[in-house]
Amino acid sequence: MSALIGPKTNPLLQLIQWLRDPLDYMERNSQAFGDVFQSYFTGKPCVMVSSPQGLQEILTAPTFTAPGTLNEVARPLLGPNSLILLSDPEHNSRRKLLMPTFHGDRLFSYGQIIQEITEKVIGNWKLGDPFDVRESMQEITLRVILKAVFGLQEGDRLETLKTALVKRFEMTATGLGSTFIFLPFLRKDWGEWSPWGRIMAQQRSCDELIYSEIRDRRANPDPNRIDILNLLLTATDEAGETLTDGELRDELMTLLFAGHETTATALSWALYLIHQHPNVYKKLTEELTSLGSHSDPITIFKLPYLTAVCNETLRLYPVGMLTFCRLAKEPVSLLGYDLEADSVVVGSIYLAHRRPDIYPEPEQFKPDRFLNRQFSPYEFIPFGAGSRRCIGVALAQFEMKLVLATVLSQTKLQHHSPTHCLKPQRRGALLAMESGFTMVRMT
Ligand code: HEM
Repeated sequence: MSALIGPKTNPLLQLIQWLRDPLDYMERNSQAFGDVFQSYFTGKPCVMVSSPQGLQEILTAPTFTAPGTLNEVARPLLGPNSLILLSDPEHNSRRKLLMPTFHGDRLFSYGQIIQEITEKVIGNWKLGDPFDVRESMQEITLRVILKAVFGLQEGDRLETLKTALVKRFEMTATGLGSTFIFLPFLRKDWGEWSPWGRIMAQQRSCDELIYSEIRDRRANPDPNRIDILNLLLTATDEAGETLTDGELRDELMTLLFAGHETTATALSWALYLIHQHPNVYKKLTEELTSLGSHSDPITIFKLPYLTAVCNETLRLYPVGMLTFCRLAKEPVSLLGYDLEADSVVVGSIYLAHRRPDIYPEPEQFKPDRFLNRQFSPYEFIPFGAGSRRCIGVALAQFEMKLVLATVLSQTKLQHHSPTHCLKPQRRGALLAMESGFTMVRMT
């Protein structure tokens, strides 16, 4: 057995390094210390793991758990009753409740909505005028999730809630606001003139709108609606209790937050990469054209090359660069290293996806690798694994494919600055891109 090693840098400095450039932090330390190393990227001890075998073990072995208490950073935005902050057994039963809304017929019923929303957003791109790709993708994914979650029709209510949420999410996505997530001691609410006070005020505006929606729906129940709020309003736990307004608010906020920025970022990377690689663009548009009049959502979902392009995008730039943290229940041996009970561990999805032994020329965008080889769920792991695996995985994949198919079939786009090479950048806890990435619609 070996003792764990890792960077000797002061924990606060490691946190700062992580906040400034998480990819550099992970790459440097995995080169120096290997697949398992003791890190302090949160300012506290946390073992970072990146080999498929190690990931499988920490995410699925019974010696590791996934308590919600490890996700406290999400509390100010999502609230204490969010799925992300729950621990078992509540976590497990809440997942069982939510899962069906993201699968099967319910999922496919969102197909037409996704296509219509995409067409509407495309309609706003004026020929020859540059448009901000991430903003457009965010517009699509936020509208989709608002419709799936609340069943809101186009109109003032949807617009008001959308505007309030975008403002709130933006406040902790970049700059000083994004450091509040990781540095709780900076969170001081001294009213509207203090940065945290402004964030909390905006949060209250969002909450009022969500609570008013919940009150309205309780007052006017409609069993025919198929949105997620309807399901949650009538759901009962083992004791026959329904969810309180506070519990509903936290779960709705969780789905809105987790469900839009992630998919929007993945879509933006996909559009960027497809248009950087003319051979990929050609092959993909040929596949889409070959559909002719059979372009229904389920056929699009099954297209092999489109699937390969989406997978390769999520491999190269995994939006969730880390899994949630896990906890060792007892002393355990992990890939030959001794871990004490209560050790906190995390999976690096980014490092797992950049392994040259699994992905030759890992920094190259090569969708064909997904046609030529089947990767294990711990080699290709953009949605995590085990008890906290992303519950929106099917919706995210479905949405990515439908949006890309609609955009590429109905428009011809070009990079606004063809030579500009986009760099990945941290946005809140996600791996995103520099802002201001623009494209131009040619036809
Ligand atoms: C490309 C899009 C997306 C990516 C890359 C992504 C990635 C992830 C990852 C890496 C995790 C952590 C898994 C783990 O620790 O094992 C996660 C969890 C989660 N995701 Fe996603 N996600 C995406 C889209 C979505 C969507 C569309 C929704 C909902 C509508 C969603 C809801 C959630 C929730 C609620 C969790 C927490 C699950 C739990 O605590 O049990 N995600 N996601």
